[in-house]
Amino acid sequence: MKRISTAFFTLTVLLASSAYAQDGEKLFKQNCASCHTLTDKAMVGPGLAGLFDRIPSEEWAISWVKNSSKMVAAGDPYAVKIFNANNKVPMSAFEFLSDEEIKGVLSYIRNPPVKEVPAAAAVVADAGAKPSGALAGDTLIYVLVGLALLLLLLLVVLRGVKRSLTHLVSERDGVPAPVEKGAVGTLLSWMNTHRGWTAFSVLVVVLILLRMGIQGLMTIGVYQGYAPTQPINFSHKIHAGQNGINCVYCHSSAEKGKTAGIPSLNVCMNCHSYVDQGPTGTAEIAKIYRALDYDPATKTYGSKPTPVKWVRVHNLPDLSYFNHSQHVVAGQIPCQTCHGAVEEQAVVGQHSPLTMGWCIDCHRTTNVQVTDNGYYEDLHKRTPEWHNGDPITVERIGGLECAKCHY
Ligand code: HEC
Ligand code: HEC
Ligand code: HEC
Ligand code: HEC
Ligand code: HEC
Ligand code: HEC
Repeated sequence: MKRISTAFFTLTVLLASSAYAQDGEKLFKQNCASCHTLTDKAMVGPGLAGLFDRIPSEEWAISWVKNSSKMVAAGDPYAVKIFNANNKVPMSAFEFLSDEEIKGVLSYIRNPPVKEVPAAAAVVADAGAKPSGALAGDTLIYVLVGLALLLLLLLVVLRGVKRSLTHLVSERDGVPAPVEKGAVGTLLSWMNTHRGWTAFSVLVVVLILLRMGIQGLMTIGVYQGYAPTQPINFSHKIHAGQNGINCVYCHSSAEKGKTAGIPSLNVCMNCHSYVDQGPTGTAEIAKIYRALDYDPATKTYGSKPTPVKWVRVHNLPDLSYFNHSQHVVAGQIPCQTCHGAVEEQAVVGQHSPLTMGWCIDCHRTTNVQVTDNGYYEDLHKRTPEWHNGDPITVERIGGLECAKCHY
């Protein structure tokens, strides 16, 4: 009994501490990662590798995190020392964190995770993920066509061998060689004697060609899965995924207007003026500096910036009109419904077909979000009996009218 309860106790402590460690990771990423790395590298604050070898104690760290300025003001010698060593940049206070939460963060700092798989590997894996299905299909066709050609070649060779053998035999017997019908002749006479089979084969071939033709026509201009290589290896997985940066932090016009837009490099510099290294090294981030004509050593901008030529992924034809804010703000549709799990993609690709059928299907089945929607509040006040609280689809507000999307 005693042993069981000891084991139970140990287990609870272990579970609790690992729970703290997990919270610690989350809390660190949310609160500390913008200024501290877990390595030697300084960002806004010093790198935290080997922290516990230099600070006075864990208790010291807890009160430091809660309110470092107070400790500096109180003249704590180590606090004053690092404050001065960091050009007197004050660290934010975290009085809202409990002692337990800070202990969790500290234990995460003490045992940082093993370095994650570099993004380059992830890039390859992700980029390969989508087209591989399509590729498998293509490869199969090539293999089949190759096999057919090989069989044909074998047939021709065997025919040649047979012909020279017959020649040899007739030469030996001293009789004239039999008249050759030739391949076409043989085929024609076979078709003449097997009319049912001939009609059937012709039908099959025609049907296959028809199907291929229709499929080809349907997919003209549909680029689902298109994920081009970009001039800078920008990863949504690192930014929107691991670092949890909100989509509209970068694509800010998605909530305001027609286009979502691609952020200017100045937005990148909010972070990359001090984050000069990613999981694959410094080369990719250096491209931002080069484009902005920025010298990271002196932190000065030159006079010859060159724009980065991002490759456009999504592109509706000019004949149609699509508006982001209408869908994101009024329609309250998350980006992921149309763009897929972008935050998991190292290379962003086109998730949806972007055909007219795709737009229409959704308009037929999706209800307009009228409750708790600022966009509709005013309308509701003016026309309270508008829809008697029944759900209404986009179709009913005119979402299938040609002129809404074509003008
Ligand atoms: C706004 C930037 C900023 C944030 C956010 C921040 N720190 Fe700091 N931190 C600093 C700076 C700057 C220093 C250096 C001391 C100074 O100048 O006040 C520092 C120093 C420290 C030190 C002492 C480092 C040493 O080398 O002795 C610890 C420990 C620390 N921070 C932990 C944390 C933890 C834990 C968090 C998250 C809960 C956090 N910091 C969030 C800026 C920040
Ligand atoms: C740190 C800034 C940043 C954040 C955060 C971000 N993006 Fe992007 N996004 C970019 C940049 C830069 C590009 C252009 C390069 C590329 O295509 O990879 C881009 C491209 C895209 C594209 C393709 C654009 C085209 O050419 O058609 C889509 C779709 C997209 N982002 C959606 C999202 C979604 C959804 C989120 C949130 C989950 C998000 N982005 C978060 C910076 C960002
Ligand atoms: C809110 C902060 C933030 C913004 C804004 C931001 N980044 Fe980053 N970026 C990071 C962080 C943090 C890392 C490093 C991640 C790591 O080391 O795990 C990073 C890494 C990178 C890398 C290195 C990837 C690799 O494989 O090594 C590139 C390239 C990059 N960012 C490009 C951009 C571009 C382009 C923009 C602007 C469109 C941008 N970033 C905007 C925080 C940001
Ligand atoms: C209802 C579907 C839908 C939703 C929701 C949606 N998008 Fe889009 N997005 C599209 C379509 C369609 C295009 C192509 C637009 C074009 O080519 O004119 C596009 C294009 C883009 C582009 C390329 C640049 C541009 O503006 O054309 C980016 C970046 C983008 N979307 C980001 C986002 C982000 C971020 C969100 C969420 C805040 C979002 N999208 C929500 C359908 C959607
Ligand atoms: C995921 C579902 C979804 C997809 C996909 C979608 N829409 Fe919509 N769309 C909506 C919703 C919901 C609304 C209603 C927004 C509102 O409340 O005004 C809407 C509204 C509209 C409107 C305004 C209709 C009106 O009567 O006011 C236009 C125009 C429109 N969409 C165009 C498009 C086009 C073009 C595409 C394809 C490129 C598209 N939509 C794809 C959900 C979608
Ligand atoms: C919800 C938005 C929407 C509505 C409503 C809509 N369309 Fe479209 N339509 C599109 C989009 C988006 C495309 C482009 C898709 C593509 O290229 O595959 C398109 C393409 C077309 C094309 C093909 C042009 C080409 O070059 O292939 C024709 C024709 C067309 N629409 C006619 C109509 C007619 C007629 C109506 C009314 C009965 C209508 N559309 C209603 C969104 C819409």
